[in-house]
Amino acid sequence: MEKIISIRNINKAFQTNKSSVLACHNVSFDIYKGEFISIVGESGCGKSTLMKIITSLESKTSGEVVYNGVDITELKGKHLRTSRRNIQMLFQDTTTSLNPKMKVLDIICEPLINFKLISKKEKIKFATEFLEKVGLNQSFLNRYPKEMSGGQRQRVGLARALTLNPEVLILDEATSALDIITRDKIIDLIKDIHAKTNLTVLFVCHDLNLVSKISDRVVTMHNGEIVADKSVQQPLMLAI
Ligand SMILES: Nc1ncnc2c1ncn2[C@@H]1O[C@H](COP(=O)(O)OP(=O)(O)OP(=O)(O)O)[C@@H](O)[C@H]1O
Ligand SMILES: [Mg+2]
Repeated sequence: MEKIISIRNINKAFQTNKSSVLACHNVSFDIYKGEFISIVGESGCGKSTLMKIITSLESKTSGEVVYNGVDITELKGKHLRTSRRNIQMLFQDTTTSLNPKMKVLDIICEPLINFKLISKKEKIKFATEFLEKVGLNQSFLNRYPKEMSGGQRQRVGLARALTLNPEVLILDEATSALDIITRDKIIDLIKDIHAKTNLTVLFVCHDLNLVSKISDRVVTMHNGEIVADKSVQQPLMLAI
């Protein structure tokens, strides 16, 4: 299998008023193309911090995240934008991750417009296409985030993340706030996209029962360190 990201000795210390918190401590592991990896561990063990370092939303204290042969923690300007384009992240809280003042049409098309991949005239066509990929229809184009349910907002966030055809998708408890039926539908959708496109998925989650069913591999963190990294044997699907 082709290695896509290599995390090497990542350390992250946060300075607060009087003390320092070591959120990630010598974290090292390799991620292979097309893997579905779940990251588990108790609250505060450093999962989100690590994911934010991989997406360049947070700086590291030391270490490397090598993607396509380059340490992306050192990138700036145009090169940083390109690496961000290929590694997309969805968060738990859709009320803050989607701009409340933008309509779904603009939310979905913003990355495509920013990278000059489509013209303004093509927005409706592309937004409709991506809404359909996530199981919504054209009637959502003119809605604002507050006019949708949490599950619908998360689907819109997913549509937006997929527009740039990322190689890696990170979901940081992106389904944790949803009811089980909606959660399972969104996970099915992500698994379907993962299977069809060879997307690499990092899935941060607290539900150990769920991750054992959906992942190829489960990485466990504790106090900023990786304490377990196990492959999961999924039952083979029987051909009908
Ligand atoms: N910006 C920050 N400033 C100071 N400390 C921080 C900051 N962000 C995170 N921390 C601390 O770093 C540690 C790891 O936090 P992190 O958010 O990565 O945990 P987590 O595993 O994602 O937890 P949860 O499951 O609750 O989301 C915690 O002790 C947290 O308090
Ligand atoms: Mg977190």
